[in-house]
Amino acid sequence: MTYRNRILAAVALSALPVSDGYAQQAPAMDMQAADARAGATVKRMTADEKVMLTHGIMPLPLGGPTPPIPADAIAGAGYITGIVRLGVPALKETDASLGVSYVMGIRKDGATALPSGVAQAASWNPDLMYRGGAMIGSEARAKGFNVLLAGGVNLMRDPRNGRTFEYLAEDPLLSGMLVGAAIRGVQSNRIISTIKHFALNGQETGRKYVDVKISEGAARESDLLAFQIGIEQGQPGSVMFAYNRVHAQQACASDWLLNTVLKQSWGYKGFVMSDWGGVPKIEAALNGLDQQSGEQLDPGVFFADKLKDKAAADPAWRARLDDMNRRILTAIYASGLDKAPVSPGGRIDFAANAQIAEEVAKQGIVLLKNNGVLPLAKSAKSIALIGGYADGGVLSGAGSSQVHGEGGPVVTRPVGGKGVWAGFIAQQYHRSSPLDAIQALAKDAKVTFRDGRYITDAVEKAKQAEVAIVFATQWATEGLDVPDLSLPDGQDELIAAVAAANPNTIVVLETGGPVKMPWLGQVAGVIEAWYPGARGGPAIASVLFGETNPSGRLPITFPASEAQLPRPKLDGADWVEPDFAGNPASPDDKLSADYDIEGSDVGYRWFARNGTKPLFPFGHGLSYTTFESAGLELKGLTANFTVKNTGQREGAEVAQLYLVDRAGQAKRRLAGFRRVNLAAGVAQSVSLTIDPRILADWKDDRWSMPAGEYTFALGQDAQTLGPRVKLKLPAKTWKD
Ligand code: BGC
Repeated sequence: MTYRNRILAAVALSALPVSDGYAQQAPAMDMQAADARAGATVKRMTADEKVMLTHGIMPLPLGGPTPPIPADAIAGAGYITGIVRLGVPALKETDASLGVSYVMGIRKDGATALPSGVAQAASWNPDLMYRGGAMIGSEARAKGFNVLLAGGVNLMRDPRNGRTFEYLAEDPLLSGMLVGAAIRGVQSNRIISTIKHFALNGQETGRKYVDVKISEGAARESDLLAFQIGIEQGQPGSVMFAYNRVHAQQACASDWLLNTVLKQSWGYKGFVMSDWGGVPKIEAALNGLDQQSGEQLDPGVFFADKLKDKAAADPAWRARLDDMNRRILTAIYASGLDKAPVSPGGRIDFAANAQIAEEVAKQGIVLLKNNGVLPLAKSAKSIALIGGYADGGVLSGAGSSQVHGEGGPVVTRPVGGKGVWAGFIAQQYHRSSPLDAIQALAKDAKVTFRDGRYITDAVEKAKQAEVAIVFATQWATEGLDVPDLSLPDGQDELIAAVAAANPNTIVVLETGGPVKMPWLGQVAGVIEAWYPGARGGPAIASVLFGETNPSGRLPITFPASEAQLPRPKLDGADWVEPDFAGNPASPDDKLSADYDIEGSDVGYRWFARNGTKPLFPFGHGLSYTTFESAGLELKGLTANFTVKNTGQREGAEVAQLYLVDRAGQAKRRLAGFRRVNLAAGVAQSVSLTIDPRILADWKDDRWSMPAGEYTFALGQDAQTLGPRVKLKLPAKTWKD
């Protein structure tokens, strides 16, 4: 076993859950055998067949010229024709990470919505991610899809990113481990999952134009490491590229990203598909792109006849085309798509799947503040609910990941404005009423609801009740960033007024990501429920009344203000979004994002570097019991310690191990984590294997660790650290 493989095996072992049951793991795919078989098939392909798997349409009437939609296509994101003669199935693709998506309401077959990506990640539970992925994959298969456009893992470099809700975390280890588990879950259904969007897609503003500047070292230690770990752990059949530019190259045509890093350095054997409408030219093929998706959205169909002509004329193109086919076939064979064909009309157990969604919501809800008001007594006599359509449902994020639950949304609010997404998106609330769930638990309570539009009216109701619960929302969508981190629509004033009227005011946040809380000192409790999915109502009620002991931990820092961010003003805040055809207001406009400001110090690392105190740190989350993690010992790269439930009731702790200092230099890195379920009074020993890449720099084409003392600490969060423990390590360098 090489050094690298030993490390991978150790990392894989450390991913195995010690708690939370459900230790099912997908069998590792045999990429090697699939690759050999793919090579043999390519030899049998005709010139025409070689440009069948390399491109496809979006099988939707989008307005404008729609290519003919094959009879076996399902309304969804993509369709790639199969090759019947060779037993290669058509690829039927659907979004996404949160559930089988709704494609603008065209399909009305319903799907189970998991909570948002950041909510899933707040569980810090790879095992649960696997279950969520397996559930979505099973629904995709039952609907006749065999490729899931899942696995969104862009690091949260900016909390204002409109897709923060879809992604997982600001840390590469946490993101990579979680996305890998979710992908394994999806692919356990013998279908293909993607990992996306590769790479450095940190904002939605000007997403096809923004040019990201970042040094190779910083990229390798952060965003790329999340992908690398995710690919190792999940073995996705496909990688979807990102829209943005990197070092002035479109990511889809970035020789560095696709050829050098992904395929050569990491040895990735699957295929790279484009993001929809992201291919500018045929030359992207030479730089590593293998398949053109949703081709009617691009300026041309590049990967069909034009590619065939190039291959006929030029051996370099011919070899590339063979490699493209070989990669796509490798993914098909490794996932077993040909052996276990999908067909629509499969049975879906929505009730069982909703339970998974509810479990994810429960584990992902984060108790941010509690002065003792929570958990609420079920004997409460009067409870005033205010805002957030809490009588009807829970908010969801919009864009390609939008899921339509059974029966469709309970509330739909149209969104105005111009830009790529105008007319396609709306604010939608999943049909899962917090009010009903609260009433079901507090049977004798008089539960009132006010929509919160009129502050005086809400205050009046709050005064009359024992407890006031304000549901505050921040809607977010693909395609648009939020301009700042405030709660919109005067909700801050509403919360402050209600809190002034009732000392037992609790705020339930349904937000895409971090928000500021100017009223924090005035309220008794705050829970972050994110977009909690198909069963958000019962999950929120369960946490409020203590049936569920909250165990979520923040996978992203909540800043006190935008001024604390590497970019106090979002790059391109004044950018004029292009029209639907993608024409920017001014094609020469140079929009760039300088990620070298923070480099690999994304999120909590940036706060540690600057010594700034956020509103809530990465890793923060309270419980109704108390825990103690102690006795940290390091033997080489193995950390051993004990976690004890020191309180009165059962709960789950997320033990967090941080690197604090390396060879005399302060350096904050999450080096390991483990979620542990513990009954009251019970202690458990935990052993974590540290991935050396977390401790290293990427320099001169290799990982490099200086000799010296490495200081670690267990942390309640990234800023609240226990006793320091030192470990001497020799200098070491190694290739990927
Ligand atoms: C998104 C992708 C998605 C694709 C297909 C794009 O707009 O960026 O995440 O998979 O559409 O729906």
